[in-house]
Amino acid sequence: MKIGIIFYSETGHTKQACQDLNERFKKNGHDVFLNEITVVDVKTNKSLKDIPSMEGYDVIILGTPVQGFSLPIPMVDYLKTTKMPKKQKLGVLITQYFKVSWLGANHTMKQLLNGCAYANPDLYGYSVVHWSSKRRAEQLIKTIDKLTNLDL
Ligand SMILES: Cc1cc2nc3c(=O)[nH]c(=O)nc-3n(C[C@H](O)[C@H](O)[C@H](O)COP(=O)(O)O)c2cc1C
Repeated sequence: MKIGIIFYSETGHTKQACQDLNERFKKNGHDVFLNEITVVDVKTNKSLKDIPSMEGYDVIILGTPVQGFSLPIPMVDYLKTTKMPKKQKLGVLITQYFKVSWLGANHTMKQLLNGCAYANPDLYGYSVVHWSSKRRAEQLIKTIDKLTNLDL
């Protein structure tokens, strides 16, 4: 299958998780493309710079951190700017600092799904890695297992 992993990352955590996911998809024999959403300058100008297309994939994974209990502004802007194909098969990978999803990931997920609701995506998997958790490594493996299981 043709798989697009599209992510935003400011300090590298989400990027690392998406790179691991990319490797597993490759190992499983998929045609996978890792695409980073970037901004002009993280500190001074968060206007979008690299805006990957969502066209042409059998499966898309959107990766994002939590910022201020919410979806980061560049991800909000990305979803407004870029068109998701109708009924896109979609997975979501979220990273956050805190150990519990109600301190950000739940709200972030809601916002992300609202942002692409017009496309009525087919959500097959969603997983959160809590970066400060002692179980982070385990959570990362579970996340990759879940998001690479395309039969769900
Ligand atoms: C501006 C900012 C706000 C953040 N707000 C939250 C938050 O509300 N809840 C949380 O759990 N982590 C929060 N974090 C931590 C990040 O979500 C976490 O470190 C994430 O893994 C960073 O991913 P990245 O390295 O891909 O940017 C915040 C980080 C930043 C920089």
